[in-house]
Amino acid sequence: MPLEILFFGAGAIGAFYASRVAVNPDTNVSVVCRSNYSAVVKHGFRITSPQYGDYQWTPTRTFNSAESARQSGVRWDYVVVSTKALPNVSDDSKLLEGLVSPGTGTATGTAIVLIQNGLGVEQPYARRFPHASILSAVTVASAAQPSNGHIKHNRWTRINIGPFFSDADTSLESKERATAQNRRLVQLLAKGGIKDAIADTHEKLQLVRWHKIAINAAFNPSAVLSGGSHNQAMASDPELYLHLKGVMDEVLTTAPRVVGTPFPPSFASSDAILRSTLRNKSGSKPSMLLDWESGKPLELEVILGNPIRIAREKGYEMPRLQSLYALIKMKETNREAREEKAKSKL
Ligand SMILES: NC(=O)c1ccc[n+]([C@@H]2O[C@H](COP(=O)([O-])OP(=O)(O)OC[C@H]3O[C@@H](n4cnc5c(N)ncnc54)[C@H](OP(=O)(O)O)[C@@H]3O)[C@@H](O)[C@H]2O)c1
Repeated sequence: MPLEILFFGAGAIGAFYASRVAVNPDTNVSVVCRSNYSAVVKHGFRITSPQYGDYQWTPTRTFNSAESARQSGVRWDYVVVSTKALPNVSDDSKLLEGLVSPGTGTATGTAIVLIQNGLGVEQPYARRFPHASILSAVTVASAAQPSNGHIKHNRWTRINIGPFFSDADTSLESKERATAQNRRLVQLLAKGGIKDAIADTHEKLQLVRWHKIAINAAFNPSAVLSGGSHNQAMASDPELYLHLKGVMDEVLTTAPRVVGTPFPPSFASSDAILRSTLRNKSGSKPSMLLDWESGKPLELEVILGNPIRIAREKGYEMPRLQSLYALIKMKETNREAREEKAKSKL
């Protein structure tokens, strides 16, 4: 029986990784699309990449909704969620109902894989599917979908994946099952040419998430609040440099206290991150600024709100992050109010 993998949310990151996993023999890779559905049904995906070249990829099955994936009756080995993480807009875990079979006894069941930025993205899935394995993935990649079905991979492919265990998860059997499913997925990615796919433990993966949060929480809202600055421009401004460093240091000192494990010495310091940003003269913009410029909702709950709340539950405050969160949240609320007002005048 071929392995059945479903990517839910086949945008820049989802379609890119789906096309790499699909290189494996005996592996069916299907997708749930939304606005790119018609283009993908007609022509499949075209992926352009400096690393992998220019290639076409047609998914095994292309669905226009989770409901049609459900109706296919396929028993999925992996359901990979690669939508934007917007818990304040929609609870995507609900859409997975009927697509996930539980792992019990000798049955492996479906592993839910989350390739999303932010913290606390696993909780809604762990609560809704207590008997399924949850695999948590953080990627450092740059990809976009400039037109429906065209995935432009720009650079980087690093993806760390680790099993996620909630506090209620005490069964050794389910932990071993999730760890094996995690290892298998990393092997599929490696065989698909993703050389820096890394299998991590639960704790290490949570530290990787926090480390990426340090970068995202500093650069993303600051780019929007400062009126549309790209990364290097912010790092080149002396006051903004201090601000970015202050935010990153706040997260990097709080995270080990929350997780209970120190960062490994190989993780970059705030100074190293800023040095590397100063060297990158490509004018790259953080994803939150790109979303803001195209009028899309911002991933501010998982990048700012959840880290603040998770740290607060353990008795730690992050005042720099809290200020950024309050300001950007109100900026988004004001934009929505302006849009509503404009609509009501039509
Ligand atoms: N792009 C990058 O370089 C990059 C790098 C690192 C991490 N990430 C993270 O990876 C995650 C995915 O980002 P992305 O850039 O790939 O976003 P994206 O290009 O917007 O892709 C998300 C896809 O999910 C689809 N989708 C959302 N809700 C859906 C639903 N209910 N049913 C079916 N499809 C649905 C979207 O469809 P519509 O087009 O209709 O909205 C879109 O095609 C985010 O958490 C992001 O922060 C991205």
